[in-house]
Amino acid sequence: TVSTQVKHLLSQMTLEEKVGQMTQIDFSMVGVFEAQDAKHPIDSEKLEEAVIKHHVGSILNCPSTPHNKAQPIETWRHMMQEVEGVSAKTRLKIPVIYGIDAIHGATYTKNAVLFPQAINMAATFNTELSFKEGEITAREVRASGQHWNFAPVMDIGRQPLWPRLWETYGEDVHLATAMGTAYIKGHQGDNFSEPTKVPTCLKHYVGYSFPINGKDRTPAWIGERMLREYFLPTFEAGVKAGSPTVMVNSAEVDGIPGHANYHYLTTILRDEMGFKGFVVSDWEDIKRLYTRDKLAASPKDAVKIAVMAGVDMSMVPFDFSFYGLLLELAQSGEVPMSRIDEAVRRILTVKYQAGLFEHDRKQLPVESNFATPEATAINRQAARESIILAKNSNQILPVKKEANILVTGPTADLLSVMNGGWTITWQGHAEELYPQDKLTVLKALQKKSLGKITYLNGDVRADEKAIDKVVAEAKHHDVVLLCLGEQPYTETVGNIETLALEPTQMELAEAAINTGKPVILLTLGGRPRIITSIANQAAGVILGFLPGMEGGEAIADIIYGDYNPDGKLPITYPRNTNGITLYDHKPMESFEGNVYNPLFPFGHGLSYTTFATDGLAVDKEQIKWDENVTVTVNVSNIGTRLGKETVLLYIHDVAASVTRPNKQLKAFQKVELEPGEAKKLSFTLSPYDLSFIGVDLKRVVEPGEFRVMVGNETANFWVTE
Ligand code: IFM
Repeated sequence: TVSTQVKHLLSQMTLEEKVGQMTQIDFSMVGVFEAQDAKHPIDSEKLEEAVIKHHVGSILNCPSTPHNKAQPIETWRHMMQEVEGVSAKTRLKIPVIYGIDAIHGATYTKNAVLFPQAINMAATFNTELSFKEGEITAREVRASGQHWNFAPVMDIGRQPLWPRLWETYGEDVHLATAMGTAYIKGHQGDNFSEPTKVPTCLKHYVGYSFPINGKDRTPAWIGERMLREYFLPTFEAGVKAGSPTVMVNSAEVDGIPGHANYHYLTTILRDEMGFKGFVVSDWEDIKRLYTRDKLAASPKDAVKIAVMAGVDMSMVPFDFSFYGLLLELAQSGEVPMSRIDEAVRRILTVKYQAGLFEHDRKQLPVESNFATPEATAINRQAARESIILAKNSNQILPVKKEANILVTGPTADLLSVMNGGWTITWQGHAEELYPQDKLTVLKALQKKSLGKITYLNGDVRADEKAIDKVVAEAKHHDVVLLCLGEQPYTETVGNIETLALEPTQMELAEAAINTGKPVILLTLGGRPRIITSIANQAAGVILGFLPGMEGGEAIADIIYGDYNPDGKLPITYPRNTNGITLYDHKPMESFEGNVYNPLFPFGHGLSYTTFATDGLAVDKEQIKWDENVTVTVNVSNIGTRLGKETVLLYIHDVAASVTRPNKQLKAFQKVELEPGEAKKLSFTLSPYDLSFIGVDLKRVVEPGEFRVMVGNETANFWVTE
């Protein structure tokens, strides 16, 4: 068994070899900076120094540091053979595990299938697509020779300023759980040693996504009840789904940095959730316990605190400092051998489970496993289902193909704005490196149009007459497509002070609206930037977020009606910049203005057909606290087009010992219906769905009245002891 093999191996290892296993370095430590020969980006001497001399157990990232640059698949395969070759030269032949951020496809392999980012995948409300994304990503990562993927992000996106919001599956726990676990199952299958499967990593445990000031890697103030109800369940579900690794929150929660939090990393993760895999730190974050947090008195103290809190592997990108310090701590007994053995046992177990010890492990053939037409077609469908039609006055959309469209704005003609960060480069902005055969929104419209498409960037910073030109041109067109939003970013680089759109974009929008021509606003980017005044006056609004490489074509499909939109908002779209607005808010006093008043609510999304729900019913009016209840509802397509509808089921616990949200999503189903077709849907609510974190911080189902809500209907049932 794996555990016997691990035990045997561990018994032969020196302390140095063990500590090396706990060390993860960046590619730049072993790479040739600006390699002449792209096939040989590795410096064999440096690689040997790391893996043979320092016993390094893991490497991360992409060649061409410091900011990564996607490499041809042949380069990766060659490079990974070298990495595997050097591990085979070590005394005990322990393989290196090579990790990358393939968060929406194999991001650092050229021409990989790059899916919509997680916020968009959530907007599809289609778990099957998330499963397929996981499946295809794993295949392409594996075909690239890489071993381990730092995905999915299981943080929930409840702070719209946060520059990683788009990496999450949105604000809702149920939705994020469903999408994230489907991804893991597709990515890992039942056994991630299979040739097309790759282990995942749940990140960033826990509370990372809710910084009070919205800036990345800054403190969150989350009490334990809130943590257990909102932030832990997605991770718990990821552990149950079999993800064997967890990455730690770079910031702090309630005054304790993630990397020092024994309660979260050991008591909750191990003792409560039963996680058996290993915990990896985030980038240089152990050192930060000293340099930033002043929680440790020295770098050495920082290593001790993190390891004793439960960090098993240190992402210490640029040196061997962790290795040296942990060695000293282990030699002096300050970190007991039992803790080192425990960490190494966990790491070796995952390496065995991933099949890395099979030294004759074959590389996956490229042709049938990388960038296949089938995978691209699935990606196109994911992109289509991820786009939200938020407003459609007087059925301005779909636009006739004969129409003359004036396209303007900074996001119309870039692939990078549809993909966001972690695409080809870390920040995703290297437009010149994007594949030539993929289409921007503008190019996709040009491809499909039977009329005239004119493009004006409208950027007054480049040309002070830019807006005047847009106004003059508008006269000769039937409609203006106003493309606004954000350029790509991630992590601290994407920090902003306000959700307000850039003034130059607002100016362009105002001028476009004032032309009197119908304006369709299209937004692209990772956050809900404030568009209220524009959306109020525009005839149509399409929220594109980050739909990935097929996004341009998918948006054109929707604009021209070749696809009937069915995406729904996985977050609340705020009306103004005044802070956090979430749909599952607590009861509020009825002061004026004291209501949930977003621009577009969670779950909002229009179609070119019309759906209706009715006949909401529960199978029992009374259940015992440990019983299930079945809810049924009819959904029908009463419009004239084929379309897909997601039926959202919310509940409310009418009176409880802890204040309960007005409503919480507990189930959803997406169905496709022909015009005139109806279906009866059935949902099962379990005791878990009715539970919450009680006064004593334990999950409880409290007897009393519950309300179920679907569409405009409600039904009630009672729960007894
Ligand atoms: O996986 C990432 C993480 O999400 C942010 N910090 C760096 C890690 C490795 O690139």
